[in-house]
Amino acid sequence: MKIYVINGPNLNFLGIREQGVYGNDTYEDLCMYINKEAKKLNVEVELFQSNIEGEIINFIQDAYKNADGIVINPGAYTHYSIAIFDAIKSVNLPTIEVHLSNIYKREEFRHKSVTAPACIGQISGFGFLGYKLALEALLK
Ligand code: DQA
Repeated sequence: MKIYVINGPNLNFLGIREQGVYGNDTYEDLCMYINKEAKKLNVEVELFQSNIEGEIINFIQDAYKNADGIVINPGAYTHYSIAIFDAIKSVNLPTIEVHLSNIYKREEFRHKSVTAPACIGQISGFGFLGYKLALEALLK
């Protein structure tokens, strides 16, 4: 089983950006965590991060032929990218949306996800653990 794990804009700045919200761990720490948990679960993961909407869409489309499922944290694109919503719908692969922070506890503009309706479900507010939970959910 192969899962694409996609992180959107500014997630490469983990450990630098708003540490009170996202903590001190870096994007590299997140990648190590996901790789470690994937190994334990016996899942093959391919990690991808981009600040560019079109690159994220290209990677989602790449999953069509090359992956069995997707875990995606679209970052701020969550709240307005109909193009990412369409891409997830297009590939028709089981997809889970993850957010490190609890988006429903934050500013009102974060309360709406336009991408979540294209997904099986959403995990929000559990930090790195959310990615592991998403992999487990896809396995089930
Ligand atoms: C985020 C939440 C988004 O609202 C924000 O724009 C991000 C990160 C999260 O993981 O909590 O960049 O997706």
